[in-house]
Amino acid sequence: MNLGVLVSFEGIEGSGKTTQAELLYHDLKTKGVPVVLFRDPGSTEVGERIRAILLDPKVKISPWCELFLYLAARSELVRSAIIPSLKEKKVVILDRFCDSTFAYQAFGRGLPSRRVSVINKIATRAIKPNLTILVDIEPTKGLKRITHPHDRIEAEDRAYHQKVREGYLRLARRARKRIKVLDGDKPKEELHLEVKGFVYPLLREKGYRL
Ligand SMILES: Nc1ncnc2c1ncn2[C@@H]1O[C@H](COP(=O)(O)OP(=O)(O)O)[C@@H](O)[C@H]1O
Ligand SMILES: [Mg+2]
Repeated sequence: MNLGVLVSFEGIEGSGKTTQAELLYHDLKTKGVPVVLFRDPGSTEVGERIRAILLDPKVKISPWCELFLYLAARSELVRSAIIPSLKEKKVVILDRFCDSTFAYQAFGRGLPSRRVSVINKIATRAIKPNLTILVDIEPTKGLKRITHPHDRIEAEDRAYHQKVREGYLRLARRARKRIKVLDGDKPKEELHLEVKGFVYPLLREKGYRL
């Protein structure tokens, strides 16, 4: 049912996901391509409230509860925003999506991947990105870029972030066609060119004029 195109950005804290998602969004908007940008969790009223709970460093959350909170927010985002946008033939850019759950909750927290996969499919209505840009960076470098007080996830220890990074890279090896790995250490502008190098051919193939 993917009438539009779904492009997700993934990566650990401070890798540059939001920067690249926004650069792509503005570029496509300038070119007259119908495009929307959502963040997951978030971008719906309930999703933003769930996000605030998830990122609050004062709240203690056990791994399964954390999983369900992320997926509750995702379920709302998929049904109320992503699917309607795809039906309107829009390019949907996502600042995080399902791969985050495998990297953070399965690889990071140790929850069983198969179960995570089953519940994730319910939350996403089995929608998958056409293309995923994984911005890879060494955890210490990524965390150093963050200037605000650390949220609940950013405050996790280095070993956790390392597991998440390795989880992402493992996902990328399993899905080479969909997931493209970029070196987050490169300058923003250079990465933006690389992102466009993957996105433009996909959009042309899907009939968008660029
Ligand atoms: N390629 C880059 N090189 C250096 N700094 C970057 C790069 N990309 C982003 N940044 C900076 O690093 C910080 C985190 O970037 P951000 O895009 O918010 O990361 P994320 O969304 O992955 O956590 C921001 O201050 C941003 O300006
Ligand atoms: Mg971000």
